[in-house]
Amino acid sequence: MRQFFLIYFFLIVLALTVLGFRGCKSTKPPLEIFPDMDRQMRFSEQGKTGFFSDDRMDRTPIAGTVPTVTDEQAPYANLVPDNRFRENDYLATGKLEDGTFGDGVPVEVSYEAMQEGQEIYSIYCAICHGDSGNGKGVVAAERYGYPTIVSLLQTRLIDLPDGDIFNTITHGKNTMGPYGSKIRVEDRWKVLMYVRALQRAASATIEDVPAENRGELGL
Ligand code: HEC
Repeated sequence: MRQFFLIYFFLIVLALTVLGFRGCKSTKPPLEIFPDMDRQMRFSEQGKTGFFSDDRMDRTPIAGTVPTVTDEQAPYANLVPDNRFRENDYLATGKLEDGTFGDGVPVEVSYEAMQEGQEIYSIYCAICHGDSGNGKGVVAAERYGYPTIVSLLQTRLIDLPDGDIFNTITHGKNTMGPYGSKIRVEDRWKVLMYVRALQRAASATIEDVPAENRGELGL
């Protein structure tokens, strides 16, 4: 009987000790019976480690390494299909050798190219800049409240060099996002062609339409 009381007493003490800590906060890591590889050694980029003799975590490419991408990636990475870097070409930057924006379109200008430009423009640009380039696309201030969208038909933009507008398409500008990784190099020039066509059309008169095509306008 005495033993029973003793065991009973210790059980109560044990229960109080264990349960008494319920709700207490601890900053110590919990007891882990199976760690499941939760914690592992890792290296951060540009960090330091004693593992390599030069103490750097990043390894440098082996001497003579040539940057290369697949044919599919090439147009996005500003590489020509034979994987030659053309990062600095006018085609990829819209900039001349002295770093200023150039004028002129470095891909073939044709009616077909312009039509492709129109298609891409209507996919990527029209939601903001509007079908006609007047800056009144669906998301613009008038409808969904995007406040800073500009008209592409303003004189300032008509006067900008082609390379500058190409650069805006590639890298974006202020509140406009970049399209360099979404639209291929050649296609970005086609979009520019179409923007130029919209600008030209905005100030066109009936005199600009060849006489034989005037009937098609239904005027
Ligand atoms: C999400 C909305 C949005 C989309 C989509 C968009 N833009 Fe813009 N764009 C803007 C805004 C906002 C500005 C004004 C940026 C600023 O504050 O200077 C702008 C400015 C511009 C400018 C004038 C840059 C300058 O030098 O002032 C050009 C040119 C332009 N966009 C072309 C395009 C083309 C081409 C596309 C399609 C590839 C496109 N934008 C897609 C929002 C957009």
